[in-house]
Amino acid sequence: MRIEKYIASLVRASLDNDMRSVRALSTKIIRRIKDENPDIAYEISEALNYNASGISASRSIGYGFLPQDNDSRIDLIRLEEPSEIIRPFFNEKLNEIINDIEIERNHINKLVSMGLKPTSSILIFGEPGVGKTHLAKYFSSLFKLKFASLDMSSAVSSYLGKTGQNLKKVIDFAKEEPTLLLLDEFDAIAKKRDDTTDLGELKRVVNVLLKELEEWPAHSILVAATNHPELLDKAIWRRFDMAINIPLPDYDARLEIIENEFKDIVIDFKKKELVAKLLKDVSAAEIIKLCEKTKKQVIIYDKSPEKVIFIELANMNQGKNIEFNKMFCRIAREEFSMTYREMANILGKSVSAIQNYLK
Ligand SMILES: Nc1ncnc2c1ncn2[C@@H]1O[C@H](COP(=O)(O)OP(=O)(O)O)[C@@H](O)[C@H]1O
Ligand SMILES: [Mg+2]
Repeated sequence: MRIEKYIASLVRASLDNDMRSVRALSTKIIRRIKDENPDIAYEISEALNYNASGISASRSIGYGFLPQDNDSRIDLIRLEEPSEIIRPFFNEKLNEIINDIEIERNHINKLVSMGLKPTSSILIFGEPGVGKTHLAKYFSSLFKLKFASLDMSSAVSSYLGKTGQNLKKVIDFAKEEPTLLLLDEFDAIAKKRDDTTDLGELKRVVNVLLKELEEWPAHSILVAATNHPELLDKAIWRRFDMAINIPLPDYDARLEIIENEFKDIVIDFKKKELVAKLLKDVSAAEIIKLCEKTKKQVIIYDKSPEKVIFIELANMNQGKNIEFNKMFCRIAREEFSMTYREMANILGKSVSAIQNYLK
């Protein structure tokens, strides 16, 4: 049997929690790869050994016990298996900032030996779907750090009076070994209007953070991510080594995202530049969703990708923006020879409105 076939069976067995098959398949895979890839065969057999002695398999790659809530015994953070993350597509200015961080961290020993600290606490802010979580994961993959994440908003709501204490545990865990700790929905530590969270507890959380940030070790990175930077105190902002604003993608970044989405499928899609232009003010996550929808339609119905994506785009923007509608009608007429009626249907407007847009 081909090794790829084992992988498919292994995925099924793991998803179904069929441990007997997982073990049997893993043993087969070890036998098949041990000559060419002894290190990977060893890694798999270590995972099996740990599991057989009742220890979490992830400990075989140095993942210790996760910090837990004292009462509920629920793990406080999520640790993810290391994997290679593609570099997110950003505007040129942001790319330069990321390059600088990369260079700094590649000179970590030199800097530390001279009493300097490389950037190791970063506040990332921007609208939903611009790539905050993605960037944090990318850093963890780039710098070979374990990726641990804690959703602050659910921590604050589920641990109430124990949030400060639990946060301290999580931070101690991340300080111990090289880790990228992502504190997501970070604005949850700020007091919001008409919010019933205990103010005293939030203050304790902030104090824990301020203190821990000061003593944060260079080998780990703390990333706080938020869609609402305006809710955060100046004192907190100042304590981070760096604040990164991720804006909505500009034309070049949008084009890169679209090209990346279509790179693995063989279809004739010419008007990517035009689409990138039309996707102004749209987040990366939304662009990706749009591309996925388009690919499906193109694959199933053999439609023209330009036309599908163009119509999906209009659905996304329906009625929101006159400027968009005008641009849409112009392109619909010039590039796709659409009738007024078709345009009216897509935009949910009357034919006379379309005539108006095209005046
Ligand atoms: N700049 C980007 N380049 C490539 N993919 C992106 C980018 N931004 C977001 N994505 C993708 O969009 C989805 C949502 O992104 P995420 O990082 O979770 O957004 P955020 O945390 O800012 O809300 C993910 O699948 C992510 O990989
Ligand atoms: Mg996110």
